[in-house]
Amino acid sequence: MADRHETITGDSLKELVDRFYTSVRQDNMLAPVFAAAIGTTDEEWQPHLELITAFWVAVMLGTGGYTGNPLQAHRKLPPFNALLFGRWLALFANTAHETHSIAPATLLIRKSVSMADAMSRDLYGASLNAPAMPVIPPAKRHYRSTPVFDTAGIPDALRRAHKTAAGVFARIVVEKGRLLYTIGHEQTHILTPEHPGVIEPDSPHFVTPLDDVKFTVEFYKEAG
Ligand code: HEM
Repeated sequence: MADRHETITGDSLKELVDRFYTSVRQDNMLAPVFAAAIGTTDEEWQPHLELITAFWVAVMLGTGGYTGNPLQAHRKLPPFNALLFGRWLALFANTAHETHSIAPATLLIRKSVSMADAMSRDLYGASLNAPAMPVIPPAKRHYRSTPVFDTAGIPDALRRAHKTAAGVFARIVVEKGRLLYTIGHEQTHILTPEHPGVIEPDSPHFVTPLDDVKFTVEFYKEAG
């Protein structure tokens, strides 16, 4: 996409926030939580969009007049399923890439993960949770691996949504650091050396280095 922002500015953040909450309002799991707190009309949403844009401007650019307390705002909400954080993050990461090039999108995604983790600890006393990882069927055999990638050397193709070849499963094996693994618009997993990721065929996904990471991808397909 030619019009992705190369740097983070007030305008780029406004576009990100507008597009992100358009997706949130269409998401069958997130929409009800927001509809109950904010409403469903554009008039009801306008002040929220302005507030959230001000929040991101303050967090990413250190300017503007946001003086709210996000942790407290979420404590006041009726309890919601902790897995919604992963869904929120998946939508956010996709929108960050739709609106920004890889380097600024990475900064935005890292910030969103650390905020979501802080909120999850505050609300549930536990860091971010995710659904069970898919499993590679036993009939699939390992047939090749990528070289080891480090943070600076991750190919762009892995940083934006892509799929494995037809019928191919893959395992993302982290040697060091933390890698955010986003599956579709629905799930995020934080991969670590103790927690590898599995990629299913036909599943759009991408990775975002959260710190100084090293990992390989192993590919599996039907023997023969
Ligand atoms: C499952 C995840 C989340 C849900 C369901 C959620 C939901 C909401 C809702 C319903 C509000 C409006 C509260 C109100 O006005 O009464 C709100 C406010 C807000 N949210 Fe979230 N949120 C989530 C995650 C996050 C994350 C990860 C961030 C930051 C990266 C964030 C940043 C904010 C901010 C800045 C506000 C405004 C706080 C203020 O009033 O100053 N939210 N959220």
